[in-house]
Amino acid sequence: MIAKDSSSTLWFLIYLTILGVVCAQTCLETGYFRQESLYGINHRLILTSLPTTVSSQDGFYASSVGQDPEKSYALGMCIPGADSNLCSVCVKAASDGLLQSCRNHTEAFWWRGDNETLCFVRYSNRSFVGSLDLEPSFVVNNSRESKSLNLTELVDSMIATASSDSYAADSKALGDSQVVYAMMQCTSDISSEDCETCLRGSLSQYQSCCLGKQGGIVSRPSCYFRWDLYPFSGAFGRNTLFPPSSSPPVNQTDNDVTASSSVQFDFKTIEAATNKFSESNKIGRGGFGEVYKGMFPDGTELAVKRLSKTSGQGDEEFKNEAVLVAKLQHRNLVRLLGFCVEGEEKLLIYEFVPNKSLDYFLFNPTQQRELDWAIRFKIIGGICRGILYLHQDSRLTIIHRDLKAMVICLQSTRCVDISL
Ligand SMILES: *[C@@H]1O[C@H](CO)[C@@H](O)[C@H](O)[C@H]1NC(C)=O
Ligand SMILES: *[C@@H]1O[C@H](CO)[C@@H](O)[C@H](O)[C@H]1NC(C)=O
Ligand SMILES: *[C@@H]1O[C@H](CO)[C@@H](O)[C@H](O)[C@H]1NC(C)=O
Ligand SMILES: *[C@@H]1O[C@H](CO)[C@@H](O)[C@H](O)[C@H]1NC(C)=O
Ligand SMILES: *[C@@H]1O[C@H](CO)[C@@H](O)[C@H](O)[C@H]1NC(C)=O
Ligand SMILES: *[C@@H]1O[C@H](CO)[C@@H](O)[C@H](O)[C@H]1NC(C)=O
Ligand SMILES: *[C@@H]1O[C@H](CO)[C@@H](O)[C@H](O)[C@H]1NC(C)=O
Repeated sequence: MIAKDSSSTLWFLIYLTILGVVCAQTCLETGYFRQESLYGINHRLILTSLPTTVSSQDGFYASSVGQDPEKSYALGMCIPGADSNLCSVCVKAASDGLLQSCRNHTEAFWWRGDNETLCFVRYSNRSFVGSLDLEPSFVVNNSRESKSLNLTELVDSMIATASSDSYAADSKALGDSQVVYAMMQCTSDISSEDCETCLRGSLSQYQSCCLGKQGGIVSRPSCYFRWDLYPFSGAFGRNTLFPPSSSPPVNQTDNDVTASSSVQFDFKTIEAATNKFSESNKIGRGGFGEVYKGMFPDGTELAVKRLSKTSGQGDEEFKNEAVLVAKLQHRNLVRLLGFCVEGEEKLLIYEFVPNKSLDYFLFNPTQQRELDWAIRFKIIGGICRGILYLHQDSRLTIIHRDLKAMVICLQSTRCVDISL
């Protein structure tokens, strides 16, 4: 038994390594340059400055160095919410990798994903910012098969989110307690129509190469799509580190059985995670009921809203609403992981955001000094992005009717979150 376990671990590692090599840089065969040319010098200059500029510019930077015809253009970006340190390390690895592997290629790009983050670096001797580039596209697939694995529906629903937000990450429970994770990213300089075009192309490529494959990547200059049976690139937050509850699917008015079963939790699981809703786990109270902190057996933290029994909402209405809200994903919104209904109990389960809310900082004489205008400006920007997403960009066009300092969380890596 032990021998079997260790061999499967080894195999897993080998697989990761192979993927890392296979999905490396894409060096375009459109032209070559000499190292000692002015273009070569400009090119090295801009690529070596990217790690710092990208991480200091909130994860996206595009620029050029030099004069035509020796001008060198480059773009670097990280996925939304990436820690700025990780972002800078990733962009450096990608830039260095391109300098080495695409030594004298005039154009190249690399979506560099590891288990912690994903970043993108592209360079060229022509301006490409804002333009949709579908070719060359590059597909990697994993030789392991799950015959019935067909991600078409999941991917289809993710494309809507990704095209408005340039990013989407989602997961879906498969039958045998396995979960498939999928992530999409467009370069954030292209329009949402172009993003959709790019990802639709990747979807049809997926359908022609990779149905039934347990993992793979479709990579293009303007967009990226990856899926696998484990969470990768830090894209899935804490929420997907634990398997979805094994409770049977509930009947859905919208027929969305997979979605609802993957976000419905067992009451016992939540009761255990919050130490039977103990006083010491209580972290807040609102008009809706009480909030508890909890922890799953694997160490994943969660926040549970236990709705007061007088909320007056019907079970079916509550479930449908929770399933919809759980589909909202935005870096400035606290993620609803799921819900639980049992008897009179209605629970909403959120990712745990380990910090105090804005009111604590604003109205505390010592703490408020920490909020200088630069920070306040960032906070305002974060609130606006979250609200814009809810009001306009999400498919649900939700109106937040209770926006106040108490529902704004400050978090160093994501700066601002808004809980619904
Ligand atoms: C870019 O370089 C290629 C060859 O390396 C050349 O054919 C092309 O004209 C250059 N484009 C621009 C805009 O300078
Ligand atoms: C590009 O570099 C490779 C070796 O790194 C060399 O063989 C090749 O001739 C070079 N191509 C051009 C066009 O300079
Ligand atoms: C994966 O992440 C862990 C830390 O989260 C790190 O120690 C490890 O080296 C990473 N593995 C690879 C293959 O990058
Ligand atoms: C995907 O894998 C299959 C075999 O497992 C292979 O025949 C096919 O060429 C692969 N597709 C791509 C695009 O790599
Ligand atoms: C995959 O799923 C899509 C959408 O559900 C369906 O149209 C398609 O026929 C499926 N493909 C296969 C090979 O089952
Ligand atoms: C689900 O729907 C089926 C058919 O509409 C019905 O027979 C069954 O009782 C429903 N189950 C629940 C739990 O509502
Ligand atoms: C919350 O923010 C403060 C700074 O405002 C920081 O020191 C702390 O580490 C953060 N995290 C927690 C869990 O408080």
